[in-house]
Amino acid sequence: MKKPKHHIFICNSFRLSGEPQGVCNKKGAPGFMQYVEEGILDRGLDAMVSSTGCLKVCDRGPAMVVYPQGWWYGELTEERVDEILDALQEGKAVEEYLLC
Ligand code: FES
Repeated sequence: MKKPKHHIFICNSFRLSGEPQGVCNKKGAPGFMQYVEEGILDRGLDAMVSSTGCLKVCDRGPAMVVYPQGWWYGELTEERVDEILDALQEGKAVEEYLLC
């Protein structure tokens, strides 16, 4: 298997037991998985997407992290995802949406 250049983790609020019920899931995180996947394909980015458990930034969710850069983004919307993926294409972060 060839390692992707970027790995994007999207919080889907999974808990050790039971169904995902956290903030990101309630704010539409499941839909972002599909949206980010399509955005990656549209831009021809070498990236893969995985969903994660709570990233502990619930008050700023929906949240995602881009590796290997370690860029943490919050308060995701489709518009923000578009900007983030456009910037990623150029190897840049969208500074104003970074959580840390
Ligand atoms: S539920 Fe997403 S950061 Fe906590």
